[in-house]
Amino acid sequence: MKALLLAGGLGTRLRPLTENLPKPMALVANKPWLYHLILHLKDEGITEFVIAVKHFPNMIRQYFEDGRSLGVSIEYAVEHKLLGTAGAIKNAEPLLSDRFLVVNADIALDFSLVPLLDFHISHGGGVTIALKEVEDPSQYGVVEMGGNGLIKRFVEKPDRGKAPSNLINAGIYIMEKEVLSWIPKGREVSIERETFPLLIQHGVGVYGKQIHGYWLDMGTKERYRQVHWDILKQKFTMPLRGNESENGIWLGKGVNVGKGVLFVPPVLVGDDVQIGDRSTIGPYAVIGNRCVIGSRVRCTESILWDGCRVHNGAQLNHCIFGRELELGSEHILYEAVMNRVSGGDDH
Ligand code: GDD
Ligand code: MG
Repeated sequence: MKALLLAGGLGTRLRPLTENLPKPMALVANKPWLYHLILHLKDEGITEFVIAVKHFPNMIRQYFEDGRSLGVSIEYAVEHKLLGTAGAIKNAEPLLSDRFLVVNADIALDFSLVPLLDFHISHGGGVTIALKEVEDPSQYGVVEMGGNGLIKRFVEKPDRGKAPSNLINAGIYIMEKEVLSWIPKGREVSIERETFPLLIQHGVGVYGKQIHGYWLDMGTKERYRQVHWDILKQKFTMPLRGNESENGIWLGKGVNVGKGVLFVPPVLVGDDVQIGDRSTIGPYAVIGNRCVIGSRVRCTESILWDGCRVHNGAQLNHCIFGRELELGSEHILYEAVMNRVSGGDDH
């Protein structure tokens, strides 16, 4: 079974980080999220991938190429205009297997696909949607269940208080290729607003199966931070490279730590990082590869991507820095999300 990863959205809620980056390439624990996702799915037995790309497609292609370096095969379905979630699947049709998995590429997940697949095979319908129970379903697609796991109604982002249940679309589907005949070609189509309601209306067999285990859509800044804190708390047990030298402190290779540096766990520091004397790092800090942190710096609840420089005496709290950004000495930054204008020539 091939997996189609939907990675073409604009990622507007993660701006400015996604200003010159496809959202699934946002770093999570110092690697693009898409890298972790592909390796997780590989552990689940999936070795053939199709990535549906649109926003900065070459960044994804150049990073993963044909997938060989990860021990998988990767093909690309490129959209020249945004086709929406169903349009992207339709566009990838020639590359898909008769039965395939679809995953929204901004989903952090840690659960087994086996029960989902077993259920899909047992009901014999066209689609199985993975469902997750959440407290506030208003930011998601919400389902109303009938008997035997059949979905009676699918409502995308209902108004607060109007959701038919607390069971949401987890952005993971198993689909039979025949179902794609319901999606028109060459125009923008939303699977959530158009295709699922249409399939349900025509009794094509759209089923839902609740999943248990870690699940988070990291497509907003709050949830992007959350996924990091969950990794650091080991609530989300994603394999973290690097050594855990003490409880809750992960240091990469070649980290140069000055005198009197205080790590307040949990903290994750990438490779080849320098940290100056008497700096305090953490709690909740993720420092990217090759960052240079000066002396007397305080960095709490913040995520720095690769190659950032924080000069002496600067303070960061609740910040996210894109790649290679700089914070001047003695500057104090609260709740800033920063990026630089650069990059992508293939918008
Ligand atoms: N190729 C391609 N083309 N990909 C797209 C397009 C497109 O036109 N539009 C969106 N995507 C990708 C995004 O990159 C993302 O990985 C995924 O499709 C979902 O889009 P989001 O923009 O993240 O949607 P959402 O989070 O608001 O809602 C979706 O996910 C929820 C679960 O997290 C919906 O599927 C909801 O029903 C669902 O509950
Ligand atoms: Mg999303």
